[in-house]
Amino acid sequence: MKKKINELELKLPAISINEAVSRSIVSAFVAELDPTVEELGDLRCAVSEAVTNCIVHAYRGREESALGYIYISVRLYDTREVVIEITDEGCGIEDVELARRPHFSGGEPDERCGMGFLVMESFTDHLSVKSQKGEGTSVLMRKNLKP
Ligand SMILES: Nc1ncnc2c1ncn2[C@@H]1O[C@H](COP(=O)(O)OP(=O)(O)O)[C@@H](O)[C@H]1O
Ligand SMILES: [Mg+2]
Repeated sequence: MKKKINELELKLPAISINEAVSRSIVSAFVAELDPTVEELGDLRCAVSEAVTNCIVHAYRGREESALGYIYISVRLYDTREVVIEITDEGCGIEDVELARRPHFSGGEPDERCGMGFLVMESFTDHLSVKSQKGEGTSVLMRKNLKP
C-alpha cells in the first residue's frame, strides 16, 4: 500500500499573477521528492495550464470583485507518485469530452489555442476532469516520478 508522505492545500484568488505563484509553490513543494529538471518542468507546465483555465474560463464574465478562487491540492506518496488536484467554483464545462479535444477552445477566438488539456495529459501519467455546469470544475493529475 502506498503511503502519503506530505500534502499541501492552497486557496488563491483567480487572478493572473497566481498562475506563476501556483507554479512556483507546487514545484517548491514537489522538490522534496527530488524530481529531475524535466519532471519538474512537466509538472510546472501542467499546473500552469490548469490554473490558467480557472483564471481565463471559470469565472468568465464576472466583475473583478466577484471573481472566485482556485483550490490546489498536492499529495506526495512514498511510491514517488505526485497527485495534483486543481478545482474552481466557476461556470463548469458543458461537454468535457469535447473540451478535452485538441484545438477545441470555448475561449475568445484568436486568443486561446485549445491545447491546454492536451498539455496536461501529455506531461502527466493520468488526467481526469470532473465538471458540473454552474458548479465548477476539478482537474486531477497524477505523475509517477522516476525512481
Ligand atoms: N476551469 C474551467 N472552467 C470552465 N471552462 C473550462 C475550464 N477549463 C477548460 N474549460 C473549457 O475547455 C476549453 C478547452 O480548454 P483548453 O484545452 O485549456 O484550451 P484553451 O484554454 O486554449 O481554450 C476551454 O476553451 C473552455 O471552454
Ligand atoms: Mg487553456
